[in-house]
Amino acid sequence: MEKITVIGAGNVGATCANVIAHKNLAKEVVLVDIKEGTAEGKALDIWQTAPINHFNTRVIGVTNDYLKTKGSGVIVITSGIPRKPGMSRDDLIKTNAAIVKEVTEKAVKYSPDAIIIVVSNPLDVMTYAAFLASNKPSRKVFGMAGTLDTARYRAFICDALNVSPEDVHALLMGGHGDTMVPLPRYTSIAGIPVTELLGKEELDKIVDRTKKGGGELVNLMGTSAWYAPGAAAAQMVEAIVDDQNRVFPVCAMLQGEYGLKDVYLGVPVKLGRKGIEEIIEVDLNKEEKILLHESSEAVKKVMKTLDDMKLFD
Ligand code: NAI
Ligand code: 2OP
Repeated sequence: MEKITVIGAGNVGATCANVIAHKNLAKEVVLVDIKEGTAEGKALDIWQTAPINHFNTRVIGVTNDYLKTKGSGVIVITSGIPRKPGMSRDDLIKTNAAIVKEVTEKAVKYSPDAIIIVVSNPLDVMTYAAFLASNKPSRKVFGMAGTLDTARYRAFICDALNVSPEDVHALLMGGHGDTMVPLPRYTSIAGIPVTELLGKEELDKIVDRTKKGGGELVNLMGTSAWYAPGAAAAQMVEAIVDDQNRVFPVCAMLQGEYGLKDVYLGVPVKLGRKGIEEIIEVDLNKEEKILLHESSEAVKKVMKTLDDMKLFD
């Protein structure tokens, strides 16, 4: 790919640009920030690792200069404030909705064909905001949360069973918040159902820790995580750039799938060059369905807060 843009050169954005460059996913990565010098400095720092780490992707940083992002194939939006201890992701909406709207409009003007991946929180609703601001089909505007949340879930299972991360496969659905729905029934270790290797009590603890995984890191560091989030967003970029048709949980607009409509929510999709190639509908039991619908209700409440802000009227 010629060009990828990452908006927001903070912890997550800079990490994401760094991983994209290391994987040589594009000729150029443009890092954009509003704070003078931040994107320029971080881009220069990343680029100076190229002779050490052997990659060719040029990394450039700009302050609010969207002309430099012209012709991007993928735009990753990470701009906005992260949460501090005691805050929920939903507390960020007032600040971040205006930022996501503004940067989406500016970026789409110069890259009308780009696929947009949203990272800013509250994730599901910021993805909806980018969808509204971009005027693009929803299959080209989606959010990163499931690749991060499943990575956390899988890492906890690796620890519990002392197995390689490569062998743990898992599915997790729902919103990026306390109502997310990790699915032990769809979790396996090299094809062996996890339910055969871990007891219910231990699995319940892992599911609970996964749901609170972001908060655990906020409490440890005083701000939210960035290594896994940046890598998880870059993993989605890779699936698009290399047209991999990877199956990931992605925050996607639902139009009837799982009995849900007009809501952005984490579901398994096939991700390739055109964006979301397909939303995959798996069979859920009664309890899983209830949890997914509760998660959708929680997201819809925050979507209503966004609608009440009247940013898009
Ligand atoms: P950060 O504070 O380190 O970086 C945010 C950057 O956005 C700052 O450099 C800031 O100057 C920039 N920014 C603010 N307004 C801007 C504008 N109008 N245009 C361009 N840049 C602008 O925050 P961090 O840790 O990188 O987190 C970024 C966002 O990602 C937060 O909302 C956070 O909650 C979210 N997040 C989402 C995750 C997910 O799974 N979806 C995981 C981790 C973080
Ligand atoms: C995370 O899950 C805060 O959404 C961010 O790390």
